[in-house]
Amino acid sequence: MGCLRHYPLGRGGRGDSGLSEARCDARGNMRVIRGLLIAIAALGVIVGGYAWRSSFAPIDRPQASSFPVENVKAGAVLAAIGNCATCHTRDGGAAYAGGRPIVTPFGTIHATNITPDPSTGIGGWSEPAFIRAVREGVSRDGRHLYPAFPYDHMAKMAESDIKNVYAFLMTRRAQVSASPANELAFPFNIRSLVAGWKLFFLDRGGFTQDASKTAEWNRGAYLVEGLAHCGSCHTPRNVLGAEDKSRAYAGADVQGWTAPALGATSVAAVPWTGERLAEYLGKGRSPQHGVAAGPMADVIGNLAQVPDSDIKAMATYVASLAGAATKERQERGARAIARAGGEGAVTRPAAAAAPGASVYAGACAGCHGEAGRQPLDPALNLALSTTVRAASPNNLVRVVLGGIGRTDNQPGPHMPGFANALTDKQIGDLLEYVRANFTDRPVFAGLDVAIRKARQ
Ligand code: HEC
Ligand code: HEC
Ligand code: HEC
Repeated sequence: MGCLRHYPLGRGGRGDSGLSEARCDARGNMRVIRGLLIAIAALGVIVGGYAWRSSFAPIDRPQASSFPVENVKAGAVLAAIGNCATCHTRDGGAAYAGGRPIVTPFGTIHATNITPDPSTGIGGWSEPAFIRAVREGVSRDGRHLYPAFPYDHMAKMAESDIKNVYAFLMTRRAQVSASPANELAFPFNIRSLVAGWKLFFLDRGGFTQDASKTAEWNRGAYLVEGLAHCGSCHTPRNVLGAEDKSRAYAGADVQGWTAPALGATSVAAVPWTGERLAEYLGKGRSPQHGVAAGPMADVIGNLAQVPDSDIKAMATYVASLAGAATKERQERGARAIARAGGEGAVTRPAAAAAPGASVYAGACAGCHGEAGRQPLDPALNLALSTTVRAASPNNLVRVVLGGIGRTDNQPGPHMPGFANALTDKQIGDLLEYVRANFTDRPVFAGLDVAIRKARQ
């Protein structure tokens, strides 16, 4: 059991340990998790039939015209903030018709059809049934829902907002589409276990305003902690798959990418401010930090439908997570700006003989330039990139393999992918060089493993 703490547990850990060690840990962890879950389930049952939830009788699908247009419109914006379509749409499928597999350390759970089809969707759901699902993670028929649906965040939503989302979904086109069965190993396939999980990890208290903060900050906190569920990707999880609130926003692995730390432990070269965060959340790009890729690009795509005032509010709240910029962080920013070719530029010629130097010169320098100089606009200055500075090389590997920016042949900044142009060895050398030449961060751990995994 001594190996427990090294295991790259699902989305929360960092995959630095060797493979055989990871296997040993996986078995050990499964035993621990099983034991804990069974104990939790027993407790759930003891707490007086807690696991049991009543069913709401099905209703006839409400007429679309029964929902006021303003409510539907407000619901559309809220659904975008909540990324409902991202999870509830399968690749190439109709929006909200479900079927997308959500891979968790416990198995694969399929997002359901939330269009108003009465048989395979939520057409037969009354408003109270929908409110209960969002607040308590219970389906219309009384089954407990897995927290792969981030209701642990959405529980903070005001009832009026949930009603608007309901109005929006009930006025979509009904799609007949049943989701594939979940693939969960015993005991995770027992839904009533989730009742025990909720006892520990579902906060039913709703959102409480902080009177010492501005209205904008409170609006941001309401959205970020609730509907927008930013922590579901950016906060590490414990062995039971719940967010570890003691390390809120400390960064976590998600879908092969790493959601970076957003708070005081952010490795960003230049400290984030509310203004820069608003630019990033609104446009997916902040020249001092980077470009949103992977799962964050989906989030940004959804936020494009959201009014600036809400984007600014979320930015204000997220900026406050880091507290006031410390001297250390300000100095780090100044050093990075120097490496980026600003005031007091430095170059690090020592790295020029490294094996990756020639790969960089051939594949990247044309756009990104040399350390200590400004790159050609609009390529990002790698000395300022969080992706190059991150603890895990996951995002850097994925950006280099797959490229970044517009892929739909529309005008806009674009970087090609190098998956076919470079071998694993060349990419490894290249990224070691990029790390040494553009940052003051330690060498990447687990670079080879990250490249191999990203290739699969
Ligand atoms: C991170 C992915 C994710 C996001 C984001 C998400 N959902 Fe889901 N949702 C799921 C999954 C997975 C399930 C199925 C859970 C299960 O089977 O236990 C689900 C289930 C549901 C259900 C229960 C349906 C049923 O038939 O029991 C409702 C209602 C629902 N989601 C509504 C929403 C709404 C509204 C939003 C946006 C505000 C949203 N979801 C955002 C993943 C997501
Ligand atoms: C589905 C998972 C997911 C959700 C939800 C999510 N993020 Fe992210 N986020 C990521 C990933 C992955 C990255 C890294 C992307 C990259 O490097 O291009 C990221 C990057 C970021 C960054 C850049 C950090 C840096 O230093 O470069 C910020 C800021 C950010 N997210 C804020 C948010 C906020 C605010 C929310 C909620 C509105 C949010 N994220 C929701 C996955 C997510
Ligand atoms: C044709 C020009 C071009 C080439 C060649 C190129 N890039 Fe880029 N790169 C860009 C552009 C443009 C962006 C920003 C994309 C955007 O704004 O959507 C970018 C973004 C990046 C980012 C994202 C930074 C972040 O934090 O989000 C990284 C990392 C990166 N490039 C590394 C490389 C490496 C390493 C190479 C060589 C293998 C390379 N690039 C080659 C143009 C290029």
